[in-house]
Amino acid sequence: MIGRTMNPRSRILRWLALCGGLACAAALASAAGTPEAAPEPDPVAAAINERLGRGINLGNTLEAPHEGLWGVTLHEDDFAAIAQAGFRSVRVPIRWSAHTATRPPYEVSEAIFRRVEWVLEQALEAGLAAMVNVHHYDEIFRDPAGHEERLVAIWEQVASRLRDQPPEVVFELLNEPHDALDAERWNALHPRLLAAVRASNPERVVVLGPDRWNAIGQLRHLQLPAGDRRLIVSVHYYEPFRFTHQGASWVGPRSQEWLGTEWHDTPEARREIERAFAAAAEWGRRHGVPINLGEFGAYSRADLASRVRWTRAVRDAAEAHGFSWHYWEFASGFGAWDPRTRMWRPELRAALVGE
Ligand code: BGC
Repeated sequence: MIGRTMNPRSRILRWLALCGGLACAAALASAAGTPEAAPEPDPVAAAINERLGRGINLGNTLEAPHEGLWGVTLHEDDFAAIAQAGFRSVRVPIRWSAHTATRPPYEVSEAIFRRVEWVLEQALEAGLAAMVNVHHYDEIFRDPAGHEERLVAIWEQVASRLRDQPPEVVFELLNEPHDALDAERWNALHPRLLAAVRASNPERVVVLGPDRWNAIGQLRHLQLPAGDRRLIVSVHYYEPFRFTHQGASWVGPRSQEWLGTEWHDTPEARREIERAFAAAAEWGRRHGVPINLGEFGAYSRADLASRVRWTRAVRDAAEAHGFSWHYWEFASGFGAWDPRTRMWRPELRAALVGE
C-alpha cells in the first residue's frame, strides 16, 4: 500500500517539494500586497488542485448502500483504464453512514476501511490522485441535530485511518449539503469536521462546498473556517437541469416531461456556463481558494450528441478558469465508460480528455 508504508520523513519531504517554489512566490507576493488584496491561495492547496486536474467520479459504487447494489462494482483494471484515457484523478463517493454504528462511539466498520484502502491503492498505483468524500449521508439532511456528532465521529476515524496516505489524497467533508442542513447550519458544522480531520492530518488538503447541493449561487453564503486555507472549494454544475436530468427517476415524475430536451452549442448557451463559472472563479480569488468542479454530467436519457456538446462546453469553461474537475460519472447512468463492453464511449471520452 503506497501511502501506509511511506515513512514520515519521506512524507514531509514530499510536502516540502510540493510547496517549494510556490511558497516562495506566495511569500513574495504577500510581502508586496496591499491590505485590501485578496488572500493568497495556500500554495499546497493550489498545487494539489492542479494535480487533481481532469478527473472522474467513481459514482454508484461505494455510495450505494453497499457496493454492487446500484449495478457497479469496481475492478482492478478500471483504474488503469481511467489513467490511460488521460484522467489525473478520481473522486471516490462513499456512504460511510451505511457502515457506521448508530450509537456512540459510532464505530466505522473495518470492512469499508479495507475497501477504501484498496481503492486508494489501485488509484495511486495507476498514478491517479484521489478525493475521498462523505456521500449520501441522507439522514443528516433531514435531521442535522441528530447526526452532526456522528459525522464528526466518522471524520475523526476516517482521517485517522487514512492519515498516512500521500498528499494527493484529499478529503471532502460532505457531498451536497441541502434541505435542513442549510447555509447557517453548514457554516457551523464544517469547522467542526475540519477540526476532526486536522487532529490527525494537520497538512492534508480538505475540500468543502456551499449548501444547496454545492450550488455556485450559494458560494456567497459559505463562510470559510478561520485561519485555515489548506482548502479547495468544490461546486457542482448540472444546468440546464431539465436537459441534464431528463428522465432521471430520482428527480421525480416531472423529469419524464423533459425527455427530448437537446442542448446546442450556441454563443448564448456557452455564455450561461461562463457567467456561472466566472462568478465561482471570482469568489475563489476573493477568498484565496482554488476551485474544483466536483460534479457535472448529463444523464444517458438525453441524446448522445447533446451530451457530448454540453460536456465539452462545460469542460472548456472549467479549464479556462483553472478549475480541477470530476465528471459525473464513470460507468453508470451518466457513464463515459461502458461496463458491458469494458470500453470508453468514444465521443464522451473525447469531450472530456480528447482523442
Ligand atoms: C448524486 C447522484 C446523482 C448525481 C446527479 C450526485 O451527487 O449522488 O446520485 O446521480 O448527483 O444527480
